[in-house]
Amino acid sequence: MEYKGVRNCSKGILIKNLNKMNNNRRDFIKTAGLLGAGVITGCSQQTEATNTKKSSNPFPQTHRQEFNMSGYAAPKLDTVRVGIIGIGNRGSSMVRAFTQIEGVEIKAVCDVEPERVTKALNSIKDIPNHTPTSYTDGEDAWKKLCERDDIDLVYICTPWHLHTEIAVFAMEHEKHAASERPIAFSIDDCWKLVATSERTRKHCCNMTQSSHHGMSAVALNMVRQGFFGDVIHGEGCYIHELANDRYFYNKTTGYQNMWRLKENSTRNGNLYTDSGVDSVAQIMDINCGDKMDYLVSISSDDFTMGKKIKQLADNDPFFEPYADKKFRGNMNVTVVRTNKGRTMMIQHDVSSPRPRPQTLDLVSGTGGIFMYHNQSPAIATNHNGWLAQEEFQSLIEKYTPRMMKRFDELEGQMSDERRNDVRPMDWRLIDCLRNGLPLEMSVYDGVLYSAISSLSGWSVANEGNSVKVPDFTSGAWETNKRGMNVELNSGGTTKLI
Ligand SMILES: NC(=O)c1ccc[n+]([C@@H]2O[C@H](COP(=O)([O-])OP(=O)(O)OC[C@H]3O[C@@H](n4cnc5c(N)ncnc54)[C@H](O)[C@@H]3O)[C@@H](O)[C@H]2O)c1
Repeated sequence: MEYKGVRNCSKGILIKNLNKMNNNRRDFIKTAGLLGAGVITGCSQQTEATNTKKSSNPFPQTHRQEFNMSGYAAPKLDTVRVGIIGIGNRGSSMVRAFTQIEGVEIKAVCDVEPERVTKALNSIKDIPNHTPTSYTDGEDAWKKLCERDDIDLVYICTPWHLHTEIAVFAMEHEKHAASERPIAFSIDDCWKLVATSERTRKHCCNMTQSSHHGMSAVALNMVRQGFFGDVIHGEGCYIHELANDRYFYNKTTGYQNMWRLKENSTRNGNLYTDSGVDSVAQIMDINCGDKMDYLVSISSDDFTMGKKIKQLADNDPFFEPYADKKFRGNMNVTVVRTNKGRTMMIQHDVSSPRPRPQTLDLVSGTGGIFMYHNQSPAIATNHNGWLAQEEFQSLIEKYTPRMMKRFDELEGQMSDERRNDVRPMDWRLIDCLRNGLPLEMSVYDGVLYSAISSLSGWSVANEGNSVKVPDFTSGAWETNKRGMNVELNSGGTTKLI
């Protein structure tokens, strides 16, 4: 008897199948029936079915969606009353930025270091309508800020490990929460944020640079208008040398209490995924039409930080606690496969000497390729070479989306000294809240971008084994409508001042 499609299989599989069939005639008839019906058509499929090793799923779903926050519009707010927590490098810029957006009132600011608050408030002392209360009384003073009943939005600029706890607490106290990236530390954190946002119907936004502006906005618009055909592959990265004498190794100008050095000495994988994955995810309609299925991740060894820290510790006891740490490898490369069979590569390196900006974000489709966020961005539509500068420029002009044009127009009306603090995403966050519009990125997007850190850490620890990406939308990704309204079909009415 000849079994179609089984003839060329490995001997082991054939024997195993025959034994099974001999032992159980009913199974045999069933199997033969499947073969006859063409359900099992070839050896490769059988071998695949037998040998396929599925991705590990160490983070199984722990939550069922209670309410879909994708596309959710909260009641509109004429004035957005803001509390800012963490007034360091980023937080002090946000203090200035919020005074430059129409319809914002800064009600409160908080930091464990009072002098940081004083300095930031001095920088806005001449600006009317902002007389914030300061909270500087210890590690938990931010709770008092969140408990106030005259704040609509809590904006979080603290070290990473506090982001989820503060965002959850803020939503529990009826505030929208927006956090500097990453918004979550662990997969448990991600689910906590999702569950709290769904239950409280409060926005929870991860403030990633995203596709609000620049070449990534143009790339998104071109993809949506079909210029690159079907998207096949995308790349993004965070490559920014921070392990240097200004940031990681500097007790004065660096991160408060060396928090970012600590992060790099205790974890591995891609620690700052949000920056790099966001625009690629939006180009691929992740969480609204496609979904991340699984990823693999590997890291190089650390070739620089450990050595530098040992040198520093020789002369300064402050660095001694770090001297024997095993630092995260210089380069991490993570590759994601989506349910629709597309791939994305995300890189992270903050400790190799490389100039900045040096990011190589790209999108590759059936109709061409766009290397954007690059010092010399380029477009090609076939293998013959990149388009000439003139043709490139005319495409950029044609596909610059309305969101970007509107922001540039508003910023152009500001005085020189007030320009550059507000980022397009800050403006659009407030604009959406004031117009009662869904935010550009839902809680599901924000936590997904952050979750890649934990998942890449798991994969690195397991020699690059593949790991399932949790579906934070609980299946709603198949029907969710797109965010990132780059065409600015609604809103855009909030001015910069
Ligand atoms: N989007 C961007 O371009 C961008 C740029 C820089 C930083 N960031 C992000 O912003 C966040 C802050 O980074 P940074 O560079 O401002 O760091 P930083 O160390 O300069 O500031 C953190 C601040 O949080 C304060 N803080 C610490 N514990 C606190 C607590 N319990 N309560 C209140 N305040 C507390 C610190 O005193 C410090 O002032 C990080 O998530 C970082 O990744 C984003």
